[in-house]
Amino acid sequence: MAAREDAWIAELQQLRDRGLERQIRQYPEAGGKIRVDDRLLLNFSSNDYLGLARNPDVMASSESALRRWGAGSGASRLVTGSLPCHDELDQRLAVCKGYPAALVFGSGFLANVGIIPALLERTDWIVVDRLAHASLIDAAILSRAVLHRFQHNDAVHLDAILGKKPSAVKCLIVTESVFSMDGDLAPLKAIADVAQRHEALLMVDEAHATGIFGPGGGGLVRELNLESCVAIAMGTLSKALGSYGGFVACSETLRSILVNRARSLIFSTSLPPAVIGAALGALQYLETHPSLGAMLLDRSARFRARLHAAGFQTGGSASQIIPLIVGDNHKTLRFAQRLQKHGILTVAIRPPTVPPGTARLRLSVTLDHSPEDLEQAADILVRDARDEGIL
Ligand SMILES: Cc1ncc(COP(=O)(O)O)c(C=O)c1O
Repeated sequence: MAAREDAWIAELQQLRDRGLERQIRQYPEAGGKIRVDDRLLLNFSSNDYLGLARNPDVMASSESALRRWGAGSGASRLVTGSLPCHDELDQRLAVCKGYPAALVFGSGFLANVGIIPALLERTDWIVVDRLAHASLIDAAILSRAVLHRFQHNDAVHLDAILGKKPSAVKCLIVTESVFSMDGDLAPLKAIADVAQRHEALLMVDEAHATGIFGPGGGGLVRELNLESCVAIAMGTLSKALGSYGGFVACSETLRSILVNRARSLIFSTSLPPAVIGAALGALQYLETHPSLGAMLLDRSARFRARLHAAGFQTGGSASQIIPLIVGDNHKTLRFAQRLQKHGILTVAIRPPTVPPGTARLRLSVTLDHSPEDLEQAADILVRDARDEGIL
């Protein structure tokens, strides 16, 4: 046991030396503006993009579900844990996404690791974008299907991989619509064309698009009218919708297959009523405030243009997620520390979350940030980057 403890200590020291150690820090509150040690910080690391986590209507809806159905559901969806609120949320999500059916999972991560292995056998192929989220890669590995990666957002490379596939082999293509660390958009139309040509199923992870893109926040698939080409539109309730949970929008038949095969649904307790109530409240709020996503994208575009003009590398960002790519791990950490002293909270994102040599600050703009906040933040970012020798 002592030898294992020593090995762990050495491993942690190694991570520290390489600027790769991760730590859990406590913050006194959530939101786009938070108070830390009596100072107000602009938080650019929250995925609560629309500020719904603390929205009074969303919280009231959560509280009312808590009071009506209690603190926990007591069982998985397939046993006795499917309460009226769970079914209502499935139905409301289907309408929001423009699909015949939807199914809520415990989280976005659990949705991905439930859906993908449920659809694949060992001899099938799964072809995943090279920058896809860890949950998609873990799901692919868990499925034991043959895993291929295509170059990020490269439909031509995807086509070339599929060109080598024996025709009898079934295939699932997986991408995100808005990429979590780069904020760029997948060329969904081109990918859907490739999928159609090779008779492959297409799954799109809309974790960062749901609530923001598309009519009523239905996502990028919906905005581009690609529902008939994307068999599986996965999403999460934990980002723009402000609380927690994951879901898939799909056909009624596919929903039934998942109910029968998705292990993370079958063998896990369904979400507590308060969480379901918050999601229902968020969907209701989106319905009555249909321009929130457009407002966020507009503010983000102005902020990004300002940073880009000052010389920051913002990659292909076209959303509320704006990377400031620095490269070196230690330099990125120092930049984040300096910013925090000046009222800007961002977390340095380092490998393996992003490819080696592309450490960055991942800024997410939220509706808690006013246009004036963003102006002020841009000034500080530029000044501190110059002082750190990044610009
Ligand atoms: C692209 C993507 N998919 C899935 C997830 C997992 O979602 P959740 O946080 O709801 O588990 C995330 C979360 O960061 C994500 O960025």
